[in-house]
Amino acid sequence: MNNDVEIRTSPIEGLGIFAVRPFRNGQRIRQINVVREVTSDSPLREELGERADHCDYPNGKIVLLGLPDRHVNHSCNPNAYVLYECDRSFLVARRDIAVHEEITVDYNINITGGTAWPCHCGATRCRGTVVGDFFLLPLGIQREYRSLLAEWFVRAHRDRLEALGLI
Ligand SMILES: C[S@@+](CC[C@H](N)C(=O)[O-])C[C@H]1O[C@@H](n2cnc3c(N)ncnc32)[C@H](O)[C@@H]1O
Ligand SMILES: [Zn+2]
Repeated sequence: MNNDVEIRTSPIEGLGIFAVRPFRNGQRIRQINVVREVTSDSPLREELGERADHCDYPNGKIVLLGLPDRHVNHSCNPNAYVLYECDRSFLVARRDIAVHEEITVDYNINITGGTAWPCHCGATRCRGTVVGDFFLLPLGIQREYRSLLAEWFVRAHRDRLEALGLI
């Protein structure tokens, strides 16, 4: 783990990650730490504290995230997003981030068919629910997030995105 972010108790939920230095809009905050791919041969080991909600789901895979990235909370007005680049992923600032700000992403990007649950992000524009599905977001938010979609997600959902006028 580098010293640019740290894990602290979050007003959103449990633990979150917080900026220890400022970041500029568009700046890569850090490469996301992946422990391993979760497969039938290497399943999650709950007895060791491994949790499904500490996983990411890129391009049909399941990967267990390491520290500190497994503690990134969701916000309906996130200051960061996940950039996928070949087999690596990065947390990237989507606006300037000040020291001590919690670093958040919107979990509804690059996902379909997830479970919905109540959101406690506290943002003025909180939608109240983490719907777990990009296509269930309001169209205005889908438009706002269009440039943040991963290439693999756009490839997999080209028809639906075209129908919405997003590509
Ligand atoms: C990747 S973990 C984030 C870190 C988590 N706070 C922790 O302490 O490990 C995802 C889990 O955090 C919680 N969470 C994240 N964002 C939330 C939000 N906006 N509202 C409510 N719970 C949230 C949910 O329990 C979710 O399953
Ligand atoms: Zn919210």
